[in-house]
Amino acid sequence: MGVSDLLLTSEIKKGLQTKYIGKEIHHFKEIDSTNDFAKELAFKGAKEGTVVISEVQKAGKGRFGKTWISPSGGIWMSLILRPKISPHQAPKLTLITGVSVAEAIRQVCGLNVKIKWPNDILLNGKKLCGILTEMSGDMDTIEYVVIGIGINANVDVDIFPAEIREGATSLKKELKKDAPRIPLVQRLMEELEKNYEIFKEDFLPILTKYKELSATIGNLVRINIKDESIVGEAIGIDSDGALILELADGSLKRIIAGECIHLQKL
Ligand code: BTN
Repeated sequence: MGVSDLLLTSEIKKGLQTKYIGKEIHHFKEIDSTNDFAKELAFKGAKEGTVVISEVQKAGKGRFGKTWISPSGGIWMSLILRPKISPHQAPKLTLITGVSVAEAIRQVCGLNVKIKWPNDILLNGKKLCGILTEMSGDMDTIEYVVIGIGINANVDVDIFPAEIREGATSLKKELKKDAPRIPLVQRLMEELEKNYEIFKEDFLPILTKYKELSATIGNLVRINIKDESIVGEAIGIDSDGALILELADGSLKRIIAGECIHLQKL
């Protein structure tokens, strides 16, 4: 990969149409985890909108304590936000990010991506991007939120271990050529800032978009929550971003968080 392909701060800032997201960018060739570095920066007082990007992560983190494989060619980035909302509203930020990533990929790459609840971006049913949101604060206030975004951009998924490979895809694989990473990162920052500003006024427009992009509604799903597993039809998403399941006995169950597995399109 040549220098021109790197996600250099100067390249990303060229023509970037944002007010605060990406005004400060920390770019690394290699790092353990952009989320961990962003948390250190946030703890030291870094401003809202600060971004950390790395070409490679040596210890990339996924949800549920899983490892996130992060070779060169991907987009591995984290963003610091300082929202003035109560902690129970934080899951909405993940949905906002999901909508923003999906919109950016649709606009820049022209691909028909969908969102698996709560925050996996799918292409043809396979995972293209994951989002890991980490938060610091107390019961009433959020000090900061770090949103980690991992996009399998120009990554060869065939090198992934078999159990991940089967359910994963990359932009390069689907486009059959390299995806333009810099315009994609710029569009993503712009979409995120726009949607975050909309959310400060009203979450409803974001929720409407999220539902339009949902790959989960209309599926029979299994939700794993710690040792428990619930099966039901995903019939909607409520105003807090919770998934609504209709169980076999016809009762409704509201799921706030968990791992979602699509079993069958109904
Ligand atoms: C998931 O399990 O779906 C979430 C994956 C999140 C990966 C991204 S890559 C950038 C950031 N840094 C990390 O260590 N993880 C997130």
